[in-house]
Amino acid sequence: MSTVLIRNGRIITATDDYVADVLIDGDKIKLIGSDLPRSADRVIDARGKYVIPGGIDCHTHMELNVGAAVSSDDFETGTIAAAHGGTTTIIDFPTQARGKSMHAAFDEWLAKAEPKAAIDFGFHMIISYLPDDLLPEMDTLVREGVTSFKMFTAYPDRLQLDDGTIFKAMQRAGANGGFVMMHAENGSVIDYLVQKFIAEGKTTPNYHLLSRPHQAEADATQRVILLAELAGVPVYIVHVSSYRAMEEIRAARDRGLPVYGETCPQYLWLAYEQYADDSFDGARFVCSPPIRERANQEPLWRALATDDLQTVATDHCPFCMHEGFKGLPKQKELGIGNFAKIPNGVPGVENRMHLVYQGGVVQRGWSMNRFVQVTSTAPAKLFGLFPRKGTIAVDSDADVVLWDPQRPYTIRAATHFMRVDYNPYEGVTIDGSPSLVIARGRVIFENDQFLGKPGQGQYLKRGTYAPL
Ligand code: URP
Ligand code: ZN
Ligand code: ZN
Repeated sequence: MSTVLIRNGRIITATDDYVADVLIDGDKIKLIGSDLPRSADRVIDARGKYVIPGGIDCHTHMELNVGAAVSSDDFETGTIAAAHGGTTTIIDFPTQARGKSMHAAFDEWLAKAEPKAAIDFGFHMIISYLPDDLLPEMDTLVREGVTSFKMFTAYPDRLQLDDGTIFKAMQRAGANGGFVMMHAENGSVIDYLVQKFIAEGKTTPNYHLLSRPHQAEADATQRVILLAELAGVPVYIVHVSSYRAMEEIRAARDRGLPVYGETCPQYLWLAYEQYADDSFDGARFVCSPPIRERANQEPLWRALATDDLQTVATDHCPFCMHEGFKGLPKQKELGIGNFAKIPNGVPGVENRMHLVYQGGVVQRGWSMNRFVQVTSTAPAKLFGLFPRKGTIAVDSDADVVLWDPQRPYTIRAATHFMRVDYNPYEGVTIDGSPSLVIARGRVIFENDQFLGKPGQGQYLKRGTYAPL
């Protein structure tokens, strides 16, 4: 096992900020101190750079089959792209098929991820069907390290569960130490609006937002929080897109409930105003919940700063705008003439850290500690990875990013590593970026060059949720 010495960097965790040396031995951090002896296989001068824990993107969908299309990044291209942007762990979502067991989905995802992932990965389980005889599976999954379960109040055809089933799963998770994640949108109301717009000939991508109003998100958010309170289980609301839904989370937290909220770069940086016309180009912004009016952005940024929301993940679920990119079939174009057929999702795994750094630290004056908290430490704690991941500490995994505040980076589809033919943040310049990325002791990116290997990432058997 080789050793790496990172000298004179400014070490940032969620709580600390100091200059020191970090010695990595094999895949762990071995020592942190001043003037450590310089005998290491590789010595890296980190003067003037931040030394931060690798980012954790706790919401990705690699190679996800959504029926008509499969998301365009697999575990190889998606994890290489993640690493380029300073993310060294992802948590993806095995998705139970209706009529099948959850373990079948787990096995399928492990077979997709293990040979390809360049960084470590864990899984949350999506429950799409829960007869009573499958309930014990939830207990075994928790023991096997899948300690969180995502359920949907939307997508009636594939994923939506009724309130009774959601409540049943919540109670089981409450009893076995599991953590519940909710996609909160009122699927029945949305379905009605979608059919109505299509029948009226309103078929362009802008109707995606108009059929998924923020009230439908806030309504479902309030409902699932109350169900979780009744079931006695902590709940995490994924991809919060509107300030009204965020206010439901804030109100619940003010009541002392263990309720958490995640938002995503697309809701912080992009706006409905960018696709409000009737051009099909708007398909690039189609994801659910939808990218909303610009007025939602500032309240979401503020909520991250004040801990009313706790994490930024990407919900990375890319689909190409045009058929033929890297041999991929038609994806977003499936929805020409019917917005409801546009595969839902946007790319982001590569740029999450960039966009939170620029929007939070550079533009809104956040401390670097807050940046580390929302991009790494909070997901590590909530999802049972801390202190193995999510911090720079002795005996933690050596997932370390050298973030250079003097290294500007401009986001461009032409140079990104994600396997998708557009970038929704095209042309955004970030004042600083990762110059070097270490994943479990190995330098896997240096100056935008990938030096790792697909398959080096390991499955993470996660522990159970810890309150923040
Ligand atoms: O549009 C999205 N978000 N697609 C991915 C599936 C989900 O709901 O998280
Ligand atoms: Zn979702
Ligand atoms: Zn998702």
